[in-house]
Amino acid sequence: MSTVQAQPEVAITATELLIDNRWVPSETGETFATVNPSTGEEICRVAAADAADVDKAVRAARKAFETGPWSKMNASERGRLLYRLADLIERNAEELARLEALDNGKPVAVAKRVDVAKSVACYRYFAGWTDKIQGKTIPIDGRYFCYTRHEPVGVVGQIIPWNYPMLMQAWKLAPALATGNTVVLKPAEETPLSALRIGGLILEAGFPEGVVNILPGLGSTAGAAIAHHMDIDKVAFTGSTETGRLILEAAAKSNLKRVTLELGGKSPNIIFADTDLDEAVEGAHIGIFANQGQVCCAGSRVFVEDSIYDRFLEKSVARAQARVLGDPFDPKTDQGPQVNQAQFDKVLGYIESGKAEGAHLACGGERFGNRGYFIQPTVFAGVDDKMKIAREEIFGPVMSVMRFGDVGEAIERANDTVYGLSAGVWTRDIRKATAVANGIRAGTVWVNCYNVLDTRAPFGGFKHSGIGRELGEYGLQQYSEVKTVIVGL
Ligand code: NAI
Ligand code: MG
Repeated sequence: MSTVQAQPEVAITATELLIDNRWVPSETGETFATVNPSTGEEICRVAAADAADVDKAVRAARKAFETGPWSKMNASERGRLLYRLADLIERNAEELARLEALDNGKPVAVAKRVDVAKSVACYRYFAGWTDKIQGKTIPIDGRYFCYTRHEPVGVVGQIIPWNYPMLMQAWKLAPALATGNTVVLKPAEETPLSALRIGGLILEAGFPEGVVNILPGLGSTAGAAIAHHMDIDKVAFTGSTETGRLILEAAAKSNLKRVTLELGGKSPNIIFADTDLDEAVEGAHIGIFANQGQVCCAGSRVFVEDSIYDRFLEKSVARAQARVLGDPFDPKTDQGPQVNQAQFDKVLGYIESGKAEGAHLACGGERFGNRGYFIQPTVFAGVDDKMKIAREEIFGPVMSVMRFGDVGEAIERANDTVYGLSAGVWTRDIRKATAVANGIRAGTVWVNCYNVLDTRAPFGGFKHSGIGRELGEYGLQQYSEVKTVIVGL
């Protein structure tokens, strides 16, 4: 293990709440610690928002939405602000990637290549949409002129997770702002720093007062206050299925705010014998081990056709063992620590349950090093569909490998889950590929590739994996209300 830098040089410029374009402490004066997961040590303290702060932010966002300059701004000008923000993020790519590595633990090279680059692409894509959002004219019966307007939903609450802090902020803010909403966004308490730094860039870009409010805080306080708020028109959430349920319940009990949810997964990755084996081994490896396994669409259930099972397993174990763990600031590092103690304990708990239920531990299974929250890349073979490690979201570097016989069996077992976020299939046979793509109940199916996400293509879940879609034109639709106007002639 490369030595973890005790205090990597990363400038921290924002630790307060951003409300109405001003940095302010929380009303209660409370703060919470954000921790460096590579060492377990506190990085700094950050203002902790609670209900009173959410109220204040919603008032600012409401005013900006109803009467502020934002409400009168040309759509093309909204686009220019978003382009400017994208340029500023790109210009500060190095600093933002280091901040993400420090707070989340992901390798700084990955943060730059994936998190920063994809965030920039997301803001640019939605910037281009601002002046292309248009309704229809509809030839209804009678002497009437009927048309639709796509209007912003209003004040949007956005609650994001810690696995891709900056990118999830982009997925939320970009479409909401492109359509003319105003926002109260809560980053995850594990990783508030990049969201706040981008708050600084939002001010620099020149967004008017109250349009974007950023409130770090805990889920049970600030998050719940957003979900229950009577003057928030929509909540967009990414995170666990349990918290997603609480948010939907809060919406039902308050003002029937619109809710979109991007939740957990237990995605199947199906490998047929006719595939290019090395390509599939690599695809399955990246499918589960990317981002320390902390990916909602992680291909955690790898189904391998009987005749190549042993060779696939042998190669996958070798590949997992070749993965370089260590300091996120070392350019050679592939895998950093899990995000916090709770996730570290949860993942090790699943590894213990896999062993106890009789799965074969083919490699890994232990903590890595003696500091921070590192876990060895772990491969379980001989996993039964009924085991906990085959049913529940682990959200860590743990691959479960199962054996299957034919296409029908693969589809049936792949669908035997409450989740439906994504799936992968590896084959040279177009008929098998399309049978799986059509047969799997999931929001995204990757054929001969995995984890390919693009800001232009919709993403979201069937079943317990969520409600609604993000990204692309479909994602945009979730941030507007359709108004029908009928004019008597
Ligand atoms: P979580 O769903 O509790 O946290 C995600 C966000 O929701 C955070 O900003 C948190 O502050 C907020 N939140 C928590 N409780 C809330 C409440 N009652 N009302 C409103 N907002 C609330 O997830 P957590 O506890 O960080 O991780 C638990 C598990 O969730 C992970 O092990 C993983 O399985 C899953 N997860 C899935 C993610 C995904 O990308 N789909 C991302 C993060 C976690
Ligand atoms: Mg942290």
